[in-house]
Amino acid sequence: MKAFTFKKYGEASVLNMQELPKPTPKSNEILVRVIATSVTAGDWRIRSGKPFAIRLFAGLFKPKNPVLGHEYAGVVEQVGEEVKGWKQGDKIFGGTGLESGTYSEYMLIDSDKAMEKIPEGVSFEEAAVVPVGYMTAYDFLKKVNVKPNMKVLIHGISGSVGSAILQLLKLENAHVTGVCSSKNANWVKRMGADKVIAYDLEDLESNLENYDLIVNAVGKTSFQELKHCLVSTGVYIAIDAAGSDYVDWAKGKILKDSRQIILGIGNQYQEDLSRIQKLLAKGFIRPHIDRIYTFEELPAAHDYVQKGRKAGNVAIRVENSDPFFSQSFSNSAQGFGLDTKVGS
Ligand SMILES: NC(=O)c1ccc[n+]([C@@H]2O[C@H](COP(=O)([O-])OP(=O)(O)OC[C@H]3O[C@@H](n4cnc5c(N)ncnc54)[C@H](OP(=O)(O)O)[C@@H]3O)[C@@H](O)[C@H]2O)c1
Repeated sequence: MKAFTFKKYGEASVLNMQELPKPTPKSNEILVRVIATSVTAGDWRIRSGKPFAIRLFAGLFKPKNPVLGHEYAGVVEQVGEEVKGWKQGDKIFGGTGLESGTYSEYMLIDSDKAMEKIPEGVSFEEAAVVPVGYMTAYDFLKKVNVKPNMKVLIHGISGSVGSAILQLLKLENAHVTGVCSSKNANWVKRMGADKVIAYDLEDLESNLENYDLIVNAVGKTSFQELKHCLVSTGVYIAIDAAGSDYVDWAKGKILKDSRQIILGIGNQYQEDLSRIQKLLAKGFIRPHIDRIYTFEELPAAHDYVQKGRKAGNVAIRVENSDPFFSQSFSNSAQGFGLDTKVGS
């Protein structure tokens, strides 16, 4: 089978296509024929080995796992003898958590990882880009008492996580303002944002109001920069925390600040993915896909994502012979967002 591997940290050119033996599942594992995967912001950071702290779990001197990739959509090829609930031919999608291994025509996944059936009408590419963005969004939002009409600011609303948070908040009828550049304003509004501040055309400061919840979704701001527009009982979520956010988090705990700071790593839970899958099936959420690359183009996809300007998600088509793929591909390629009035 073909797989992209990297043996050392560095530029996208360290990713090389290789022939590897097709693996055999252990008793609790599932062998998945990968149809689509993604390139996430985390993928290129791990590939580059920067910041250095990333190597504490990815491998100190060289990558522990030569096969990257953290989310997938595909078809169950074979199941281990103790696996329950899944059988050959099931179309599934899921996340690998802190492990990796989806840049491959076949991959093994522990059956206790979060995975779900791909709903009817959802393409493999769409399903493949859901787990990281939406499970992260869901895990952080669970820690907040989201109420109708709550005023929210999402700084970096056009990223994978930012746009997932937007869609989940609109289901609760929150009032969402997003910050992104003008090139992304239209699809973000179609996805349900009540107001967009285009940072390249407008003055951010003079457009800010008071918010009950502020989300730093792509690490281009901090609690220090935005705390003046957070209400006294408000919550600040840092998906990609600034260094000062950690200091402010610790200070807040010691001084018992009425404003709450939530940061850290979003965990992937089966029950969260099951709820997300139901929302997908009902058409209440849909990931925004910026580009779809072929498997061979994976290093180019890394270069693109590394620029930090992707709109929503970047999918990789690992295999394109499936009829379901060709039928739904045209939808994804248009990069549609949900023209939402969901929840209202
Ligand atoms: N904590 C966790 O568990 C967790 C989980 C997943 C991801 N993450 C992290 O979360 C971050 C976001 O990832 P992502 O995939 O959603 O997005 P991303 O690929 O890191 O960011 C892309 C988006 O950032 C926007 N952007 C760039 N500069 C901006 C600025 N100055 N102001 C506002 N927006 C700006 C771009 O929009 P424009 O082109 O319009 O500027 C683009 O849409 C990453 O650092 C990732 O590693 C953390």
